[in-house]
Amino acid sequence: MRVHVADHRLITHKLTYLRDERTDSPTFRRLVEELVTLLAYEATRDVRTEPVEIRTPVATTTGIKLSSPKPLVVPILRAGLGMLDGMVRILPSAEVGFLGMVRNEETLAAVTYANRLPDDLSGRQCYVLDPMLATGGTLVMAIQYLVERGADDITAITLLAAPEGIAHVEQELAGLDVPVTLVTGAVDERLNEHGYIVPGLGDAGDRLYGVV
Ligand code: URA
Repeated sequence: MRVHVADHRLITHKLTYLRDERTDSPTFRRLVEELVTLLAYEATRDVRTEPVEIRTPVATTTGIKLSSPKPLVVPILRAGLGMLDGMVRILPSAEVGFLGMVRNEETLAAVTYANRLPDDLSGRQCYVLDPMLATGGTLVMAIQYLVERGADDITAITLLAAPEGIAHVEQELAGLDVPVTLVTGAVDERLNEHGYIVPGLGDAGDRLYGVV
């Protein structure tokens, strides 16, 4: 897996406010959206395109447009939903699929409870949205799911990642011949005994949507 830490002062600045426990939900949501837009800019650097001829008011020139099939954006429910608006703002023609996964808080294993994805993802570039790469269990399952359906290029976008989670994903996907990239705002120190990222920002879903 190619890991890209989007090391930019504006990202670190916004992450600082996101981490702060005093930040309320409306501000948290807005910051997540802003951060995703910045991370998406980096994550879509290699989005597939094809040449297109256009006329400016002055001359004819060649530009590029997104290739078909269009990229698929896959937020992992629930917290990944908070990242969707920021992502589609810069990739408005992308299609969106949904994957519902929850981790068992005792075993920390990921369980799929819902999916709404095209059956055939052949030739698709997929962008998986999940704010926190903690143990990595959810991301491994999501990537395996997409690869089974034919996805041939996968980029995961997370706000924060734990070193243990990155190592786990790398280990589990070692044999995979599909390129996988991680774009993250920061790699934090570690996971605690409850599987939370330290220093992290707490439970991203709860901070976005409240404790439900
Ligand atoms: N999920 C979260 O929302 N936060 C963490 O720190 C780890 C997993």
